[in-house]
Amino acid sequence: MKITVVGAGNVGATCANVIAQGDYAREVVLLDIKAGLAEGKALDIWQTAPINGFGTRVVGVTNDYSATAGSAVAVITSGLPRKPGMSRDDLISTNAAIVKSVTENLIKHSPDAILIVVSNPLDVMTYCAYRTAGISPSRVFGMAGILDTARYNAFLAEALNCSPKDIHSVLMGGHGDTMVPLPRYTTVAGIPITELIDPQKLEAIIERTKKGGGEIVNLLGTSAWYAPGAAAALMVEAIVKDEQRIFPCCAWLTGQYGLNQIYMGVPVKLGRNGIEQILELKLNEQELKLVHQSAAAVKEVMEVLDQMNLFD
Ligand code: NAI
Ligand code: 2OP
Repeated sequence: MKITVVGAGNVGATCANVIAQGDYAREVVLLDIKAGLAEGKALDIWQTAPINGFGTRVVGVTNDYSATAGSAVAVITSGLPRKPGMSRDDLISTNAAIVKSVTENLIKHSPDAILIVVSNPLDVMTYCAYRTAGISPSRVFGMAGILDTARYNAFLAEALNCSPKDIHSVLMGGHGDTMVPLPRYTTVAGIPITELIDPQKLEAIIERTKKGGGEIVNLLGTSAWYAPGAAAALMVEAIVKDEQRIFPCCAWLTGQYGLNQIYMGVPVKLGRNGIEQILELKLNEQELKLVHQSAAAVKEVMEVLDQMNLFD
């Protein structure tokens, strides 16, 4: 099975590396617009194969979509990352043009591919890819919830001094400061989180999670890549292996949670066909209110994209 990763920058190269190490794909094609970048990084990753013991062939190309033909899954990481002082939404005009042209090229060469969008602003770039691709939304979705949940779980593991492997949680909403971690759906080895941590500590972790992307931008001067790249690769793995795993992903909603015609983070089941099912949790009034507030923030940015008239 062939997997394409567009954008050989920080997130794209990390994602390609994690996919290759998983050793479940025949080939990973890394593509970038910058001459030599994808070729160089692909060669470096491929040269780890004898060390790390995988057989997935990793190749890099400069804007040559013929090399991506017949991909089963394509991950879109091309676009500008955030700099300090920028919100994810500040990236919209530049990244929309990039995501649109990349999606056109991908679908032209791999009409059956499943598209996973990573570029920011995530929910709206996923919408942009969907509008461009003209394929079922079950095959166009975005990565953010796995990353945001991982941050939440990592902070909790630190606070409880326990293994992050035992923490399971659900986080919904847009990939921005309005995201909604859900304590009522957070457990540690089956124990409700509220039995293990005091409410103020939990609230502080929720607030830190919401600003988790910005915390790293302020430290590094650019956005994160190890966790984002690994999160996108986990989605690829669930699809390629038809695992039917349940993750929070940015999905097209058609009435679920009272939301319609919007891309936003919700729990979904991922398998060979992409999104196999959207799970509808029985949220309480307060949780639903927060999810709707987050949806309103996403809708505002979706409208900015609509007003750019890219799809006429
Ligand atoms: P980066 O700057 O390291 O890499 C981006 C790459 O895209 C560059 O190598 C650039 O040459 C390439 N590119 C630009 N236009 C292209 C085109 N038309 N075709 C092919 N390649 C093109 O940026 P980084 O850190 O890898 O981030 C990539 C994107 O992912 C950003 O928009 C960032 O905000 C987003 N991101 C999203 C996350 C999420 O949770 N959804 C998490 C982290 C980053
Ligand atoms: C992140 O959350 C900036 O979306 C990027 O790290």
